[in-house]
Amino acid sequence: MTEPIRLAKPDVGEREAALVAEVLASGQLTMGAKVEELERALAGAVGTAHAAAVSSGTAALHLAVLALEIGPGDEVVVPAYTFPATANAVELCGARAVLVDVDPDTFLLKPAAVAAALTPRTRAIMAVHLFGRPVAWEELQTAVPQDVALIEDAAGALGASYRGTPCGALGVLACFSFHPRKIVTTGEGGAVTTDEAGLDAAVRRFRHHGWVEVGEMPTPGFNYRLPDLLCALGIPQLERLEELLGARERVARGYTERLEHFVLTPSAGDGDRHGWQAYVVQLDRRDEALAALRAEGIEAQIGTWALHRLGAYHSHGPFPGADRAFERALALPFHTQLTDSELDRVTEVLTHIVSK
Ligand SMILES: Cc1ncc(COP(=O)(O)O)c(C=O)c1O
Repeated sequence: MTEPIRLAKPDVGEREAALVAEVLASGQLTMGAKVEELERALAGAVGTAHAAAVSSGTAALHLAVLALEIGPGDEVVVPAYTFPATANAVELCGARAVLVDVDPDTFLLKPAAVAAALTPRTRAIMAVHLFGRPVAWEELQTAVPQDVALIEDAAGALGASYRGTPCGALGVLACFSFHPRKIVTTGEGGAVTTDEAGLDAAVRRFRHHGWVEVGEMPTPGFNYRLPDLLCALGIPQLERLEELLGARERVARGYTERLEHFVLTPSAGDGDRHGWQAYVVQLDRRDEALAALRAEGIEAQIGTWALHRLGAYHSHGPFPGADRAFERALALPFHTQLTDSELDRVTEVLTHIVSK
């Protein structure tokens, strides 16, 4: 029996284990110095004035919407093809997620579709750099009036950049995830980056029950804190961000060389750097390919969700671009430790299906 090939595998080692052990020995498991250390490292990597660590990418999105005081009566434009948390964060603030179709080749928002969805109630756009591919930022900015906030869902875009500017420094606020399928992982975790001190303060208040300081709570909040124990896991990975991205670029190149003549392979726009959260190809007979890979012990997965096909958003649509992406997208095993022979095994199964 050949070894299974994992969909994802965190790139963590002795340094992560040592820092976690240090936190355990200190007795300060949460609300200590490691939180600030992680936040400084992230703000440095992204190039923003502020970064606030939170308990998940979903919490980051929720806090971004709350910080902008978006609520009942407001609308936020969300791509119809994305992880559901992008829209859920809007709806659970009492605002309406207005879904718009995506370009099925890039999986990203189409600026013209965004412009067509704007109403006087539109407060923000959730610009999702899906799977790590940067959104065409200037086109999006041109399509949207200045008083509409651009929020980056950069859950999978740490390390990515749009024409030299890091994802996370493009929007008024940006949301990251540190889930294990992301380039930097803390198990569960996330962060919000921004240049605006007032928004950073609001994020910090809402993540910590609403406290401004002890005894001062102008609005209610949540516990969305990321503990020191998990920050300790993320700090060494953030220090190695360039190395981790380089390793992911190597694997992405390996797949593209093998597969570009058989299936639609992913890439970044001209002048941009892909963050390679995932390597997602597109092909007809995707379900057959998924089943064949799994039968060979190769973990693969669908790309993500067409939201209007879920009960929560079924009244939205139609979105033919999102439908096409949902039906054809296939996420291949993707992590820094994949070997050439493992890439060959994946390729063999896929080319067999495509050429049948
Ligand atoms: C585009 C996008 N947004 C948000 C999230 C939510 O992040 P988390 O799982 O850390 O809550 C994810 C997670 O996969 C995602 O892919």
